[in-house]
Amino acid sequence: MKFSLLYLSVFINFLNASQSGSLLFHGNCTTCHFETKAVSAPSMMEVRKRYLSAFPEKKDFIKQMSQWVQKPSETTSIMQDAIDKYELMPNLAFEKEVLRDIAEYIYETDFTKQHDGHSLK
Ligand code: HEC
Repeated sequence: MKFSLLYLSVFINFLNASQSGSLLFHGNCTTCHFETKAVSAPSMMEVRKRYLSAFPEKKDFIKQMSQWVQKPSETTSIMQDAIDKYELMPNLAFEKEVLRDIAEYIYETDFTKQHDGHSLK
């Protein structure tokens, strides 16, 4: 009984984090980063691919991406070619926690496959 309650609450927490990450991503990032198409910025599919190869561990991926988005900088960029092509991403002044939820959602989402959030955009 104790165990099943624990699992249930872990599961609910997981749902909340990924749902808010999805909403935050679709509300704040997809104006520039289309999911699979590069328009005014690289597609999120491409950004995710680069981050996954540089930071395959989930915790590193989340840490590095949320840190970079909080303070975009040419020196810490892993996508120099994208800066040359589109210019440096503007600083959007988001809370660290919000950026961590968004980065977690990006880590978990294969944008080339059917996933949640499509109806929001
Ligand atoms: C106003 C347009 C704009 C918005 C909004 C935007 N981005 Fe970007 N982003 C860019 C552009 C342009 C680049 C490519 C140049 C660069 O890397 O700085 C980029 C690059 C990136 C990179 C690659 C970093 C690197 O190593 O160079 C990440 C990660 C990223 N964006 C995440 C996000 C996330 C997460 C959000 C939503 C919270 C977001 N972006 C919202 C324009 C935007």
